[in-house]
Amino acid sequence: MSKKVFIKTFGCQMNEYDSNRILDNIKKINYVKTNDQYDADCFILNTCHIRDKAKEKVYHEVGRVKKIYENKKKPIMIVAGCVAQAENDEMFKREPYIDIVIGPQSYHKINNVISNYRINEKFEETEIDTIDKFENFDKIKNSSNNVSSFLTIQEGCDKFCHFCVVPFTRGPEYSRPVHKILAEAEQLIKNGVKEITLLGQNVNAYSFKNNNKEFRLSNLINELEKYSELKRIRYTTSHPIDMTDDLIDCYKTSKKLMPFVHLPIQSGSNKVLKLMNRKHTVEEYINIYEKLMKINPDIKFSSDFIISYPGEEDRDFEQTINLVKKIKFINSFSFIFSPRPGTKAGEMTSIDKDLSKLKLLKIQKLLFSYQLNTNKSFNGKKIKVLVENKMDNQTKLFGRNKYINSVIMDGDEKNIGKEVDVYIEKFNQNTLFGKIIGTRTEAA
Ligand code: SAM
Ligand code: SF4
Ligand code: F3S
Repeated sequence: MSKKVFIKTFGCQMNEYDSNRILDNIKKINYVKTNDQYDADCFILNTCHIRDKAKEKVYHEVGRVKKIYENKKKPIMIVAGCVAQAENDEMFKREPYIDIVIGPQSYHKINNVISNYRINEKFEETEIDTIDKFENFDKIKNSSNNVSSFLTIQEGCDKFCHFCVVPFTRGPEYSRPVHKILAEAEQLIKNGVKEITLLGQNVNAYSFKNNNKEFRLSNLINELEKYSELKRIRYTTSHPIDMTDDLIDCYKTSKKLMPFVHLPIQSGSNKVLKLMNRKHTVEEYINIYEKLMKINPDIKFSSDFIISYPGEEDRDFEQTINLVKKIKFINSFSFIFSPRPGTKAGEMTSIDKDLSKLKLLKIQKLLFSYQLNTNKSFNGKKIKVLVENKMDNQTKLFGRNKYINSVIMDGDEKNIGKEVDVYIEKFNQNTLFGKIIGTRTEAA
């Protein structure tokens, strides 16, 4: 009889992709996915270490699992992901309920580790073995059949922004071979996938060399464009210094690349960007924005912001506010700087908490107003939506427009996987509401 595995995922899209790939892999040792966290033989927490309290959250979660299984058979308790990589065998000392700790570049070993697991033994696998991982995973079918699916093309980071743990938890930049990526894309399309989001910690740093020819993200986009059943292409997360002209040109040539650019800047002050070791200036960022707007004024932007980075003065923060006003990002992530152990900024003196909260409120108020205004601009209009699924416990359908805005709509289930015209009748900051009024066959 098969055993059941429950996996809870935190953090970024890459963790989501990884969780799915772990599930694809673990099938080989007869484990099937369960959505019932109260009845699992193996319980995996796929963790994120990007901001403060991440570690505490994991121990809290393990405590919760311990409680759930107090009077039942203990599942194999696995901590995977970036906290596992950062904390490694320290985790067993603090929480002996944990059986296995496995880092993001060792997932190909998970079947072996589980198969060899013996009660009361502890296993730790945190070797950075990215090439081996992908070579192993390339042999396993990606079973994702979500209308919109992720595909990792690049992992790791060599940029070492002073605030960030990713280069330590994911290791150096690695780009997968083009033919492996295209084979996985073909599989996804065969599964019924209509939208692919190419993933990487620095997705636009993608660079694969073969016979002296370099393949970049732009080449991949051009290749994906050729699959007639694929309707939409996205990518995330990109870095301003890798936003090269060949990629910018894709917005001219590609019919399937969505006109929505998530391009984190972190701060609108050159002084702070330098302190962060971001390697780009505000002017360079604006130059990218202007080039893209010249190609297609319909393109919309979103970004990530870190508030109160050590050394940020009021005038630096005002420059960030001015940048937000200039670009009018339609949705963005903004967080107060969180000191991370092992990073250069981890030891720096943090800015006063109350002041930081006030600054965060100010920037979020502005960002949210642009988000709401964008949603308002769709009200009473017909927009194109790719229908992704039926909503849990509801009759309504869920999908997204070209700018990745969530749309909840009335309509027939047979529209799942199709691009449809939706009449928007209502909106709030996060969601558009409407009804399907027609089906399309061409790309949105
Ligand atoms: N590689 C992407 C880039 O360079 O823009 C970002 C990847 S990171 C997983 C996502 C976001 O987390 C960053 O853009 C940054 O805004 C935020 N972040 C990372 N470290 C942080 C920290 N120590 N404190 C607050 N936010 C942080
Ligand atoms: Fe982190 Fe900077 Fe690398 Fe992005 S580019 S993953 S923020 S170190
Ligand atoms: Fe978090 Fe690791 Fe992603 S730290 S944001 S899960 S790369």
